[in-house]
Amino acid sequence: MITAGPTYEAIDPVRFIGNHSSGKMGFEIAKTAANLGAEVFLVAGPSHQQVHHSFIHRIDVKSAEDMYDACHQYYADVDVAVLSAAVADYRPKNVATQKIKKKEAALSIELEPTKDILKSLGEIKKNQLLVGFALETNDEVQNAKSKLTRKNLDFIVLNSLRDEGAGFATDTNKITIIDADLNEKSFDLKSKTEVSKDIVNEIIQKLDA
Ligand code: CTP
Repeated sequence: MITAGPTYEAIDPVRFIGNHSSGKMGFEIAKTAANLGAEVFLVAGPSHQQVHHSFIHRIDVKSAEDMYDACHQYYADVDVAVLSAAVADYRPKNVATQKIKKKEAALSIELEPTKDILKSLGEIKKNQLLVGFALETNDEVQNAKSKLTRKNLDFIVLNSLRDEGAGFATDTNKITIIDADLNEKSFDLKSKTEVSKDIVNEIIQKLDA
C-alpha cells in the first residue's frame, strides 16, 4: 500500500486548506513496485498524476480523514506500507455548510489536529514493513530519527528542503534512508523514477533480511 499526494481539508463548500505536493514520488514508487510484480493499493489524495497498470488499484481520497479510513481498510491485507503522502496536520474544526461571505473584519479559522495515519499503522503493525517520509527544513537527521522511533517504522525516507532539487514540486529528489538500527544511507540527486528504485530496493533488502 502506498499513499501519495496532498490532502484537502474543507473550509466551506468551495475552499480548502491544501499543500504543494504533486504526488509524483508516491506514484513512481507504485509504478516501480508494480513493474517488479507487486500488487499495489495506491491511496491518492487530489493529484494530477495518472497511472495505468493492471497491478495498481488506485483509491482516490480527499481529506486526511478519508485517507486514514482507506489505509485502515487495506492495511491488514498488505505486506508493505509506504506513506509518502503530504497529509495535512490540521483541519478546520468547523466546516461551513455554505460559502463564507466576505466581511470587513478579519477572519479566523480554528484548526484541530488530524489523525496521524502513519503513527496509527505503526501501533497496529504485525509482520509488515512500514515506511514513512520526513520532509524537513532543519535538524533533518535528528527529526527523522525521532519520527522513525515515534511512529514505529522500519525505515524513513528523509528529504531536506535545504537540498536544491529535493522535495515537493520537483521531478528530482535527494534522499537519505534511515533504518530502525539508525543506519543512514545518503543518495545523490536523481529523478524521482530513479529514487523510487532506491526505495523499492531497500524494501526488498529488508524483506529478504
Ligand atoms: N503522516 C500521516 N498522517 C498525518 C501526518 C503525516 O500518515 N496526519 C505521515 C506522512 O505520510 C509521512 C510522515 O507521516 O510519511 C511525515 O510526518 P510529518 O508530518 O513530517 O511528521 P509529524 O509527526 O507531523 O511531525 P512534524 O509536523 O513535527 O514535523
